[in-house]
Amino acid sequence: MGISYIEKKKIFQMDTENTTYLIGLSPEGYVGHIYYGRRLKGEGSNYLLRMNEAPYTPSVNQREKSSFLDFFPTEYPTGGIGDYRESCLDVRNERGSIGSELFFKSYHIRKGKDGLEGLPASFGSEKDVETLEILCEDSILGLAVTLSYSAFEKCDIITRSVKVKNIGEQHLKLEKVYSACLDMDNKEFEMLTLAGSWARERCIQRGKIRFGKQLVSSVKGESSHQEHPFMALVTEGTAQETGEVYAMNFIYSGNFIAQTEMSQFGNIRMVMGIHSDYFCWNLRPGETFQAPEAVLAYSAEGLGRMTRNFHDFYREHLIRSPYKYGKRPVLINNWEATYFDFDSEKLLGIAREAKKAGIEMLVMDDGWFGKRNFDDSSLGDWTVNEEKITSGLPDLVEKVNKIGLKFGIWFEPEMISPDSELYRKHPDWAIQIAGRCPSQSRAQYVLDLSRPEAADYAYRCVADILNSAPIAYVKWDMNRQLCDIGSSYLDKESQGELLHRYMLGVYRMQERLVQEFPDLLLENCSGGGARFDPGMLYYSPQIWCSDDVDALERLKIQEGTALIYPLSSIGAHVGDCPNHIVGRNTPFETRGHVALAGTFGYELDITKIGEEERGQIPGQVEIYHKYQELVQKGDYYRLASWSMEKPYDCWEVAAKDASCALVTYIQVLAQPNMHSRVIYLRGLEDGGQYRLEGTEEVYSGEELMKCGYLIPSEKGDFRSWLYCFIRCD
Ligand code: DGJ
Repeated sequence: MGISYIEKKKIFQMDTENTTYLIGLSPEGYVGHIYYGRRLKGEGSNYLLRMNEAPYTPSVNQREKSSFLDFFPTEYPTGGIGDYRESCLDVRNERGSIGSELFFKSYHIRKGKDGLEGLPASFGSEKDVETLEILCEDSILGLAVTLSYSAFEKCDIITRSVKVKNIGEQHLKLEKVYSACLDMDNKEFEMLTLAGSWARERCIQRGKIRFGKQLVSSVKGESSHQEHPFMALVTEGTAQETGEVYAMNFIYSGNFIAQTEMSQFGNIRMVMGIHSDYFCWNLRPGETFQAPEAVLAYSAEGLGRMTRNFHDFYREHLIRSPYKYGKRPVLINNWEATYFDFDSEKLLGIAREAKKAGIEMLVMDDGWFGKRNFDDSSLGDWTVNEEKITSGLPDLVEKVNKIGLKFGIWFEPEMISPDSELYRKHPDWAIQIAGRCPSQSRAQYVLDLSRPEAADYAYRCVADILNSAPIAYVKWDMNRQLCDIGSSYLDKESQGELLHRYMLGVYRMQERLVQEFPDLLLENCSGGGARFDPGMLYYSPQIWCSDDVDALERLKIQEGTALIYPLSSIGAHVGDCPNHIVGRNTPFETRGHVALAGTFGYELDITKIGEEERGQIPGQVEIYHKYQELVQKGDYYRLASWSMEKPYDCWEVAAKDASCALVTYIQVLAQPNMHSRVIYLRGLEDGGQYRLEGTEEVYSGEELMKCGYLIPSEKGDFRSWLYCFIRCD
């Protein structure tokens, strides 16, 4: 197990519990990709590098070097020298030409793994992970490129990142630095990605791969509502339990590209990295650029195994918060209850009612600062509006605490309203192209976080408020995408660095926050779920999943999100009805069950909802407390999908020791005269006996998994049931 170098074959072999990754060196020193897939019991070999397909190998026939480069399966393709497929590295030299060629120089294998400077990154102890670093050089450019691979044995995950150093004399420009590439033979793959829009994030889409390039990407300065830094190639017919899956996910929250290209020869190149549009990084002699980390998962047991591997990996090796496995307080957020129309009295009224229902924290959302009574002003002026919060923030927090609730608060620190004191004082702190009036979005501009004093100011505003009162939770929002990419702080040579420097600024601010306030519960958010990505998970254990809290829309959104991310990270609340976005009515109970597959909380005016619904809250809160540990730590199984195939939706969370399993069944559309409502549980002990909680019914694990559980026939659309099977032998 682990990583080894097989000298006689010039092969690096990385083994995790169920996967093997093979890298080989050509006689010239090109670093080639041999294999990634099911675990090899023995040593691999290098025939898949096709080095015998002379006359194309340059050492045999330089005349056909371009033909060689254009088919050679490489670990890290460079642009400009004859490989016409997508490159991962484009470097412009001082004379203005693009071209680079990397040759193996040395390697280093060790236990453990380092972080990445300034960037979120996975971590693990010496017993969890081994790291291989392959150093390559382009001696003509004076460029050293380190390809890093970390093999997480138990999770079947391999992470990759790339570091580029200028070891020469010229001023180089990096015009593209991707983080990972997989050159593979095509197994008749289909591509699976997550796509959507505001209030419709991360819905699963799937289709056959064709010749040419197919990609998902963002150039919006954030990972985005629309597309997601994730791509999976799956063999035909891949389902939850069967089929092969090659997946990549990106630990980054800004512009990205995830692309698969089927070449003229029918093989596949899959790449992932920072999008090269609007990107150009100066690499002066002695300087280093660190590209973010990509996460690779291979599963020979369908999508379900991939999902559980990602969940385990993110829970164990990315999320750092003390709340990762801790109970999160059940919160009530006033956004959909009041929007901007609130004051201390209204909030205290909500808090009192919430306390009676067993809710544990009040979150004051947007509108408490500056002159913000609508979304068109005051971002940047982070002083409490005492017309609304009449006796000041410390007093309000104290009163809420006295009622028996914790207090949480909303910020949008990365923004600046044109109508704000901050903008009047520092118009140059907004991202904009000199001489051009920047585009507003939600009546706001974006702060130039490459400018240290702007980032420092925004951070201090947050920290000062947190120091002024016992605040337990922060919702860090970000409500617009970036454009007009210009900075009055950076010189003209460095404008192409702005988008990445912006992300580094966000990460630096959040790192300061989690270091200065280690007990704070941080929830990231971006106009709903536009920055629900592994980068943000490194700082916050939960992310607001979508502004759409309609229970049905959430089925699709949460199914797509949970394909990669653990339920413990999915911000999910019970909303009001008719739903504010789609106008749909769904039963309160169903809304509760759907929110239970996430962090759980409320997004409604508890003082105004009907008595009957309010009366259900204590029971829902109790259910949350009862199952939250299971939901947070268990294995997630997708048993049926309404969005893909069935009139119902169903998922299960099974305890890792198979002691119990919680099944959520949502009858989206009732069907008459339909007897096929059997669901097949997973993750139980074959020989174990399981009692269905609240009944005397006992089933063997084997029966529940093989014969299935027959869901009782009931009438009504949008209804839902929880079934908890507890081991009783
Ligand atoms: C977008 C968020 O997703 C909402 O929950 C809310 O906080 C608003 N922003 C406030 O402006």
